[in-house]
Amino acid sequence: METSVAMNASPTSNPSAVERRIAADTLHAYVRAIWEHAGSAPREAELVADHLVMSNLSGHDSHGVGMIPRYVASLGEDQLKLNTHAEIVRDAGAVLTVDGRKGFGQVVAYEAMEHGIERAKKLGVCAVGLRNAHHIGRIGHWAEQCAKAGLVSFHFVNVAGDPLVAPFGGIDRRFGTNPFCAAYPRDGKSPLVLDFATAGIAYGKTRVAYNKGVKVAPGMLLDHEGRPTIEPKVMHEEPFGSLTAFGLHKGSGLAALCEIFGGALSGGYTTHDSTLETSSAIINCMTSVILDPNAFDAPAAQAEAEAFLEWMKASPRAEGVDAIYAPGEPEEARRADRTANGIAIDPTTWKQIRDSAAKSGMTEAEIEKFDGALR
Ligand SMILES: NC(=O)c1ccc[n+]([C@@H]2O[C@H](COP(=O)([O-])OP(=O)(O)OC[C@H]3O[C@@H](n4cnc5c(N)ncnc54)[C@H](O)[C@@H]3O)[C@@H](O)[C@H]2O)c1
Repeated sequence: METSVAMNASPTSNPSAVERRIAADTLHAYVRAIWEHAGSAPREAELVADHLVMSNLSGHDSHGVGMIPRYVASLGEDQLKLNTHAEIVRDAGAVLTVDGRKGFGQVVAYEAMEHGIERAKKLGVCAVGLRNAHHIGRIGHWAEQCAKAGLVSFHFVNVAGDPLVAPFGGIDRRFGTNPFCAAYPRDGKSPLVLDFATAGIAYGKTRVAYNKGVKVAPGMLLDHEGRPTIEPKVMHEEPFGSLTAFGLHKGSGLAALCEIFGGALSGGYTTHDSTLETSSAIINCMTSVILDPNAFDAPAAQAEAEAFLEWMKASPRAEGVDAIYAPGEPEEARRADRTANGIAIDPTTWKQIRDSAAKSGMTEAEIEKFDGALR
């Protein structure tokens, strides 16, 4: 059994005695069924399943199917709005402002990126400010959508009104885990995708550790009095503590700019005392800059990027390190492993999903069909 959830976990997963595995396509069908029962149109249920299962496949269980109970709670509180689409509220050519209207992030972010991709292909560049989206999950998914279209992208995201992270030098929660993501498409290969929470670890990773009954790596958490701790319960039981930002003042500064680019520039909102979220909703705002690399006068860009990657990877490895990875490669390795061997789900998370399926209106017999697929 794992003893901690570290920042750079091994790209291949280790099935433990208690975790059981499920094939990605069966899990996808389960997620689709849950949301169709809850009232989503088939395309919405499919986009949500695509996103959540891809997060699990990529090794980011924090943003995978374990999010379903939170989404069901948000729906129950009339926060998450089913079958809601992204609305372009201002079209300034190379700058689009898009309102997610609390629709499923998996739908409205997909649609916002489709608009941005179309515009960047036409103009060479497009900045998209997406505001008021319900949780948009793993940001790499949106960068991969742009990369699939041959485009470079940068994404700055805030978790509006949901502070979990202490600023550098502070000891209580002042901003969210505000992710940053950048991607670079490669000819004939998977894109480079740098995608991380500006907290030392994503909040969902504390949930995964808490559910598994394990500790987190040192340096990631403060307790309610600002003392360092490795107990994930400080994020899940009162009195609440905080996450720390990664990289001291640098990560804390990047988180602050994710808050402002994501929350303010998009016409959304930032975190402060009058915007604190009290419901189960997670509201994300994201400012994305999407670029067509062919618009630059850079015919050797791909070759230069490849030459650099080869050079970087030729560094002699530190003791105990099996490989030097480019951004996105650990996720690619996990995808190959989990596609072949199934996705491991811990019993607590499985039970929470089961309860959510029942709440969405699935019958016991339908749920048991999926229980039977765990091996
Ligand atoms: N929607 C939201 O509100 C929200 C908030 C926070 C985080 N997130 C998401 O949570 C996910 C997890 O974030 P995280 O901070 O835990 O990610 P992480 O710490 O696992 O870092 C992931 C990034 O680092 C790279 N990486 C990891 N190990 C590496 C190694 N050994 N060598 C080279 N590169 C390596 C990966 O390719 C990836 O780009 C992300 O997908 C993020 O978008 C979403």
